[in-house]
Amino acid sequence: MVNHMPKPRIYVTRELPERGLKLIRKFFDAEVWSDYAPPPKKVIAEKVKNVDALVSLLSDKIDREILDVAPKLKIVSQLAVGFDNIDVQEATRRGIYVTNTPEVLTDTTADFAWALLMALARRIVEADKYVRTGQWKVGWHPNMLAGRDVYGATIGVVGAGRIGYAVAKRAKGFDMKILYYDVIPRPEMEKDLGAKKVDIDILLKNSDFVSIHVPLMKETHHLINAEKLKLMKSTAYLINNSRGPVIDEKALYDALKAGQIAGAGLDVFEQEPTPIDNPLLKLDNVVVAPHTSSASLETRSRMSEMVAENLLSFFEGKRPPNLVNPDVLKVKPLSRQF
Ligand code: GLV
Repeated sequence: MVNHMPKPRIYVTRELPERGLKLIRKFFDAEVWSDYAPPPKKVIAEKVKNVDALVSLLSDKIDREILDVAPKLKIVSQLAVGFDNIDVQEATRRGIYVTNTPEVLTDTTADFAWALLMALARRIVEADKYVRTGQWKVGWHPNMLAGRDVYGATIGVVGAGRIGYAVAKRAKGFDMKILYYDVIPRPEMEKDLGAKKVDIDILLKNSDFVSIHVPLMKETHHLINAEKLKLMKSTAYLINNSRGPVIDEKALYDALKAGQIAGAGLDVFEQEPTPIDNPLLKLDNVVVAPHTSSASLETRSRMSEMVAENLLSFFEGKRPPNLVNPDVLKVKPLSRQF
């Protein structure tokens, strides 16, 4: 690496795990927002004025307004697999590279979908509360906190990309029947796991557990709405750790209240943080988490390293390993910047 060139300037919107941050501080002239809460949009707008690169989180809205005031910005390196918070089309038009952190979080996120699934089916959160709040007054009763069997049940995986596949793979270990819905066929789901591709309505009608793993796009916004929820079995559970707006939360609440479905496991919400008065939080058959599906120490650390690796490749004039907008190569070819 050439030392006499000035280091590229970078704004990092939160303290990343040390592994990635150390690399970024070494090779870049970095400013890091150190509060636990995200920087307000007007702070990001101010900070991007003079930077060559930006590290963003999924809670930072990187839209046209931000790109408009970032004339020197060359790359946005996002710490997440999803990037619906970034106007990628607009970035591409301006020759700005966008990268993400896929794969490393696939199994961690699939594990968490399963944690929600198991917690719902076997009523773990209710059971914990039951013991701690002194409701456990009779030692054993055949009907006490009886849940539903997971093994042998039918799981419907909506969106059979990397995470959907990993969720289905775990289901195979539980001898479950696996249905999946995707806009494209996923032969590996069928070949490796014996899964069956079906229409979304068929999936919803036949699954005991429905687990959502689609990216948020125009086409998937409120994919699960009142009409779709009506198709589900009254004994079925819905799990979502993709993006909140894929489910119409108001419709979900109505469906749960009306007993149209048995419960929901949610790691993501239409608004994050979800307001404390969100009526879903009043329901015992809803298990929630604060968008922490990829939050293992190992995975978050590796994600931070990938954020740095994507940046380093780009500034060395190499294609970043996790480029999400390859069309940008035509708008602004790679060139060595260090
Ligand atoms: C988390 O939601 C991610 O997209 O990585």
